[in-house]
Amino acid sequence: MSDSILVVYATRYGSTQEVAEKVAATLRESGLAVDIQPARKVQTVEGYRAVVLGAPLYIGSWLKDAQRFLKQHQEALTRCPVAIFSLGPTRADEEGDPEVRAQLDQQLEKYPWLKPVAAELFGGKYDPTRLRFPDSLLGALPASPLHNMPASDLRDWDTIHTWASGLVDKL
Ligand SMILES: Cc1cc2nc3c(=O)[nH]c(=O)nc-3n(C[C@H](O)[C@H](O)[C@H](O)COP(=O)(O)O)c2cc1C
Repeated sequence: MSDSILVVYATRYGSTQEVAEKVAATLRESGLAVDIQPARKVQTVEGYRAVVLGAPLYIGSWLKDAQRFLKQHQEALTRCPVAIFSLGPTRADEEGDPEVRAQLDQQLEKYPWLKPVAAELFGGKYDPTRLRFPDSLLGALPASPLHNMPASDLRDWDTIHTWASGLVDKL
């Protein structure tokens, strides 16, 4: 068994990748060997001592890449510690909102075999000028919660660093 940790992320606009890079850097500061890969490129998790998965919420669900990763590597993931972080809230009033945390909990419930050693929700990043179709359509629809939502970046790097440091003893 290798001593390395695998940090895996799914992302559409890059903000989860940047958080995954911060998590990886924090684990490395603690002396751990860390590999980082996008979820869709992971061939195997065999041989890693632990896995950290980052997945943003989109319309209440994790991105498909993250869902596929969990299904594809289910068996190996039951045999090592797994920590999860999710990105979501893009409005300050959503942070700490139980309804948003419930979205993460609902995703976790889809994988009853998954017993994460940690599961955290971080604020996300939103930039309406970068949305691609069909997200751009959602942003334009008056009935959509994204309609007229201003750009924001609620990622708190100190919080992320503290969370990742706390993983060292759990992984
Ligand atoms: C089309 C769209 C739908 C979203 N849906 C949700 C959601 O249901 N719940 C939530 O908490 N955040 C939601 N978000 C916010 C994203 O999770 C957030 O912007 C995140 O940082 C995006 O990660 P990425 O840049 O790695 O793709 C949504 C964002 C977009 C653009």
